Amino acid sequence: MSTIFVTRAVPGDGLERLRERGHAVEVWPGELPPDPGSLAAALAGSDAALTMVVDRISREMLEAAPKLRIVANMAVGYDNVDPAVAESLGVWVTNTPGVLAETTADFAFALLMAAARNVVASDRDTRAGGWKTWSPTAFLGPDVHGATLGIVGLGEIGLAMARRASGFGMRVLYASRTRKSEHEAALGCSHMTLDELLAEADFVSLHTPLTPETRGLMGAAQFARMKPSAILINTARGQVVNQDALVAALERGQIAGAALDVTDPEPLPPSHPLYGFPNVIITPHIASASLATRSKMASMAVANILAVLDGGEPVNPVNLPVRLRASRSLDT
Ligand code: DGY
Repeated sequence: MSTIFVTRAVPGDGLERLRERGHAVEVWPGELPPDPGSLAAALAGSDAALTMVVDRISREMLEAAPKLRIVANMAVGYDNVDPAVAESLGVWVTNTPGVLAETTADFAFALLMAAARNVVASDRDTRAGGWKTWSPTAFLGPDVHGATLGIVGLGEIGLAMARRASGFGMRVLYASRTRKSEHEAALGCSHMTLDELLAEADFVSLHTPLTPETRGLMGAAQFARMKPSAILINTARGQVVNQDALVAALERGQIAGAALDVTDPEPLPPSHPLYGFPNVIITPHIASASLATRSKMASMAVANILAVLDGGEPVNPVNLPVRLRASRSLDT
């Protein structure tokens, strides 16, 4: 029997599958994530952990967890744990690719539409009694059809966003480290540098992972290149945007608005200046939050844990623990 620590209640029947196999499953009961001390203590006594993107797992925590064999993140991103550090300590890190791209792109597109067409601002105004008559001038926004979308990062989610945009008759540009010519004809999208994309796009949607290269990718210089009518959409990671630079760009009218599902930090403190802009939409990191997708993500994390506890390799590794690598190189 192994001990599995799960840092939050998760949807679906994944945890039941762990219990049916005779494992002891400890689910953190709080609505908020375990504090670092509680997380460290729980990891120290566990064989496996099912974690969320907000559970920051440090080297010290991993070093103090001698039995731990896998950190199974219930997310495609894994910037909350350093896979190389885990690898050096013989701990697998896994993620949940392939199941949340469409759901996340649905939400990114919803944010794009909401920001362009004042869905949130007009709802707020209506509830406050502001709907006096049909107005020829109220809540005028840009058209989405026929506009130019700039996708930054053409991975699974970026591609799903491009498909939605082409269905809306948008012109689609993308900037990514590697050119993806195979998708260009099918989706009618064009590769360009980030600077070129920022100068042309009416909507800029971020879809990069958080890496040392993408941290602060959108800063003062980038906002200065955007059109004053352009809107920024971020469903990637808050740290990809320099938030102080974003606030300054909004104050100066360098861009027309922003729709953010991710911020830095999360949650964004209530006093943060971003809440003061009527042309900014902020949602609480829910782009993958459909019942079906979150259940699939939990189920994948469970499958990764079971594979490792059964002595095999996980289905979705993002590292290769060193002990295994050593035994493999002996085999070959
Ligand atoms: C991820 O999977 O990385 C998202 O940010 C959480 O759904």
